Amino acid sequence: MTIEKIVGEIEKIKRIYPNNLMARFFNANNFSNLSEDDKYRLMRIINTGIKNPTSEMGAYAMYVDDYEKFSFQLDPMIRDFHNIPAEHPISQTNDWDTTKARCDLGEIDPSLKKTSMRVRVARNISSFPLPGAMDKSQRIDFEKLAVLAFDRLADNPDFGGKYLSITPGTANTISNQEYKNRVASHQMFKDMSADKYLNAANISAHWPFGRGMYISQKEDFIIWVGEEDHLRIMAMQTGGNLNSLFERLHTGLKFVGDLLPPFAISPKYGAIASCPTNLGAGMRASLHIKLPNLCADDPKLERIGNEAKKLGLAVRGASGEHSGAGEGGLVDISPSARLGVTQMQIMQTLYDGVAALWKLEKSSAIRE
Ligand code: ARG
Repeated sequence: MTIEKIVGEIEKIKRIYPNNLMARFFNANNFSNLSEDDKYRLMRIINTGIKNPTSEMGAYAMYVDDYEKFSFQLDPMIRDFHNIPAEHPISQTNDWDTTKARCDLGEIDPSLKKTSMRVRVARNISSFPLPGAMDKSQRIDFEKLAVLAFDRLADNPDFGGKYLSITPGTANTISNQEYKNRVASHQMFKDMSADKYLNAANISAHWPFGRGMYISQKEDFIIWVGEEDHLRIMAMQTGGNLNSLFERLHTGLKFVGDLLPPFAISPKYGAIASCPTNLGAGMRASLHIKLPNLCADDPKLERIGNEAKKLGLAVRGASGEHSGAGEGGLVDISPSARLGVTQMQIMQTLYDGVAALWKLEKSSAIRE
């Protein structure tokens, strides 16, 4: 397709799919002022939103400096998603001091004391291209680098565990059956080559080479390698105490960070991630909660999604992105904004939002 045709295509998406942020903020004039090389670079970034008009974001960065370089296109999308008003500069500050607020779900309702809680951060290493621009040997080399760090992490009494690779033929390679079991138990990531958004950005290329996960003995601290970001570092617990969950992630993150080359972090965008939705704290903190009334007759989770949005939360189905509610109205709730908010604020938004949704569920207010 010629550049003119592609621009025409984007203009069409803009009219038909107003929620596609890439198309909404695409400016043909700005685009035509770029050099030929930069036009090509920007096209690679936004290809996913062109090939998938139903995208909500519609872009993945290919290189760490894409955000600065193409800020005229990406900043408006970032502001819209993370809710950063035009008069505020985009910037990230961090605050992990979770002792400032007590966030125990059991105080909302005793039945929430056994909630499945998870918090993860996206991190990328500045010396490699982002996953959409990696060639096969870079993916393999990156995994080797991570394995060296994990060899040392394995000796740590709190975070000790093992690395499970799905790269064919390595010393750590697991069987196909074990991979499937780990996906079913929500520890390992799904086959990325089945994700049309990632495919259009080349992020899933060379699957399954360079992919795997580290898992602690207690199975409460996991690091994904080679998914949408170089690393996804996460803590998971069944309980209600968000403070201890966040604390566990923070301790593990500091430890892992010291074992690896520097992460790509910018004062403006925070932790650099492939997807603009994951910039900033790079954090997704989520809870699996049953909200049967709020999910009733709502297979696409639209109504509950709108309620959650007012609270700064996003709702996904029990099996992750683009899935429906699970048994008994089981859904995944998480704060949407990750940039321009501290870790502490994310925890607070999650707690307050769940308290509000819980109240609504009990009164079934939106059904009337
Ligand atoms: N690329 C998809 C879109 O634009 C997903 C965006 C958010 N999810 C993610 N896994 N990064 O709608």
